[in-house]
Amino acid sequence: MSLSNLTSRISGFHRMSTAERLEAVAAFAGLDEASRAQLAAPGNIDPHLADHMIENVVATLAIPIGVATNMRVDGRDVLVPMATEESSVVAAVCNSARQCHDAGGFTTSVSGTLMIAQIQLVGVSDPENARLTILEQRAAIAELCDGCDPMLVSLGGGFRDLEVRIVKSLGGPMVVTHLIVDTRDAMGANTVNTMAEALAPRIEAWTGGKVFLRILSNLADRRLARARALWPVEAIGGPEVRDGMISAYHFAEADPYRAATHNKGIMNGVSAVVLATGNDTRAVEAGAHAYAARSGRYTSLTHWEVTAEGHLAGSIELPMPVGLVGGATRIHPTARACLKILGVDTAAGLARIIAAVGLAQNFGAMKALATTGIQKGHMALHANNVAIAAGAVGAEVARLAAILVERRQVRQDVAAAELARMRAG
Ligand code: MEV
Repeated sequence: MSLSNLTSRISGFHRMSTAERLEAVAAFAGLDEASRAQLAAPGNIDPHLADHMIENVVATLAIPIGVATNMRVDGRDVLVPMATEESSVVAAVCNSARQCHDAGGFTTSVSGTLMIAQIQLVGVSDPENARLTILEQRAAIAELCDGCDPMLVSLGGGFRDLEVRIVKSLGGPMVVTHLIVDTRDAMGANTVNTMAEALAPRIEAWTGGKVFLRILSNLADRRLARARALWPVEAIGGPEVRDGMISAYHFAEADPYRAATHNKGIMNGVSAVVLATGNDTRAVEAGAHAYAARSGRYTSLTHWEVTAEGHLAGSIELPMPVGLVGGATRIHPTARACLKILGVDTAAGLARIIAAVGLAQNFGAMKALATTGIQKGHMALHANNVAIAAGAVGAEVARLAAILVERRQVRQDVAAAELARMRAG
């Protein structure tokens, strides 16, 4: 069949079994036997569970989980599982945490576990009047919201506050209601979305306007996690290293081009723990970057200072909408096992550890960048991947990687040539 005859309109695709779907995809894409077998291989998740988690499942993707050592958070030593495809990320956390472990490690806190749902009301000619009308209904709104989730209320959560904002928009003023809900150990997206949808008709009836969107805000600035730590100047290599790191921070604080990369490094650590625990990486990432831009200028999520004694003090504050119940966290067996490794029993406890990992990650990146540069450590690990991609197996991997690093040429073409030379003896 010519490519132009292929159709992506596969009738009943969603009703097929995983194996049938894979067959259809393989036929469409002309997959060879090796690719079919690769996709068909089960990972450490029951294929039936995978099939229920999302739609149109054909396979699963395994990502390595590394464990960060040396982390001490609020006086407790913890091992932190991190799911990531990027080399150096786990090693950076281990090294950074080691350098502040004996000085006490990380001290953390949270602002609470409050999520925000937004209800967008348009088509009112008197937005101020509508705003006050909604605010007057606070008691009825609280009752309706809590009625949506009696279980949450029995666990100490539920409706907490009401805000109504007038947002100027291209289409005229919008009256935007914020429901502020304590979702406790749940990330809470489903909970607050249900409440917003239930309330919308009432808001229309009270104001005569039209509601369109009813959805949580990922700028979860009522659910902040914070961490701070002190790195003794002698533990990090002296004042010159410290001052280079402070200068790196000043760069990120001042320049959005640098801040985006600085914060990406932080999210290397944050997202790895969020993923390992089955939480929503995109929700946490959206919240982090929006929070970094809350002043109107995108800037660093961390702050770095020098103490009176000359030590390096770092801190981080960012939204951390993660949960222990609901979603993949509850049903994915690997996520459950990762939570057991962490030894956390509340969402707030998890959020605090993740903030600490973000700070450690940032320390590691800034230190490497301000001293030897990132490539030295990165290339050593990256060389393993290049060696494997070139076809090295078993003991060949380490041997070939060492050659690439020594030659300072961690490249696919060089790896292939060196592997051929090694094998030729
Ligand atoms: C790479 O994934 C992350 C870094 O670029 C972070 C940074 O520049 O701070 C090393």
